[in-house]
Amino acid sequence: MMGKLDPSNLPPDFSSVMDWFSSTVGRLESAYQELGNQFQTVNRELDDTNRRLEYQQRQLNALLESMSPGVVMVDQELRITVFNRSAERLLGIQERDCLGRQLSDVFPPGSGVGLSLLDALNQDALGGQTERTLHLSGANVPVAVTGNKVIDSEGNFLGAMESFTDLSELKRLQAEMQQDRVLRALGEMAATVAHEIRNPLGGIGGYAGLLARGFPPEDPKRKLLDKIIQGVSSLNKIVSNLLVYTRRTTLQKTQVDVVEWFDSVLSHAEIEIEKEARQIEIVREFPAEPVLVEMDPERFQQVALNLLFNAIQAIEGEGQIYCSIRSELKNVILEIRDSGKGISATEIAQIFTPFFTTKEQGTGLGLAIVRKIVELHEGEITVESEVGKGTCFRISLRIS
Ligand SMILES: Nc1ncnc2c1ncn2[C@@H]1O[C@H](COP(=O)(O)OP(=O)(O)O)[C@@H](O)[C@H]1O
Ligand SMILES: [Mg+2]
Repeated sequence: MMGKLDPSNLPPDFSSVMDWFSSTVGRLESAYQELGNQFQTVNRELDDTNRRLEYQQRQLNALLESMSPGVVMVDQELRITVFNRSAERLLGIQERDCLGRQLSDVFPPGSGVGLSLLDALNQDALGGQTERTLHLSGANVPVAVTGNKVIDSEGNFLGAMESFTDLSELKRLQAEMQQDRVLRALGEMAATVAHEIRNPLGGIGGYAGLLARGFPPEDPKRKLLDKIIQGVSSLNKIVSNLLVYTRRTTLQKTQVDVVEWFDSVLSHAEIEIEKEARQIEIVREFPAEPVLVEMDPERFQQVALNLLFNAIQAIEGEGQIYCSIRSELKNVILEIRDSGKGISATEIAQIFTPFFTTKEQGTGLGLAIVRKIVELHEGEITVESEVGKGTCFRISLRIS
């Protein structure tokens, strides 16, 4: 359909077509923005959740360590004869306020307290553990309960007892884990949406490109079309980056001399610096000997270029980027250190988060991709920065 479009027979209402293009691109752009925001929220929530989970795991362990079950016992007339400390804590009633009293006076049947004990009285079999929710004044408490008859060593029937364990923390933990799964699913959904956006985006770009050919460069309509094409290409960049970030990738590893490899990547960056007529010097601090590492040189080039472009963008006016390679025990350390504006303490915690960017034209995916690729190589990346002085990214990889 696109191929049949001939710009010379444009309908008279060309401007309405233009409006349609702009509004479509605008909508896509804001949808994408929204997706970005959501992804960021998701990531922040994931971080929070993980921190909470860790904290709660510790708490739960402490709780399990210190916890003894609450125990309530009644005699044959269903008067309370034992009420321990844990029962006091869990059920919110003091021992002295319930000893000797009828069970049903203290705990009405609706509360759920004593049900397993009554069951045990009514049947011969040993009661197993059941989960139930106790309805206490002001709170619903999930518990694991066991009820048993109580018979002394001479075989005298004394009554029945019930022991219960508070499951609130456990339940809360399970809920958190469920939320964690939901958040992960949301992240995957973002990737799917990105994928879906890509095709119509290609259509819009192609359509606009075709139309543009029908106008000379100085025509105002051509200028509008060029804007659309630019918009589409910037959206495309975001979508491709997002896909790179979320796609499961396998590495094509080979043995690489890092010295030679880094040198050629830096030449790439130098061409870029030249093109933009920037006064930036790249300083190589390389060892004389080759350093062999198992890596996917193409994917790792993406790592280095992303870091180098960030460095270039961080330098206002003149500056230097020091690139070093050195071996340390069984690792090779690559550093990219710039004399740029630096990163504040609050920002540095977020820079690896997808969609975090401080740049007007940024995608915020560069460092997320960098970290992903480094981690796929079982390497490590760290960053140090000082506002006004510069930033240093350090990658550590195992030497083969
Ligand atoms: N070398 C650097 N110097 C200063 N800030 C940096 C540097 N590298 C990254 N940043 C900060 O981290 C943010 C995220 O970087 P990145 O993930 O590459 O996304 P983008 O470059 O699209 O903004 C940047 O917007 C910037 O604020
Ligand atoms: Mg970047």
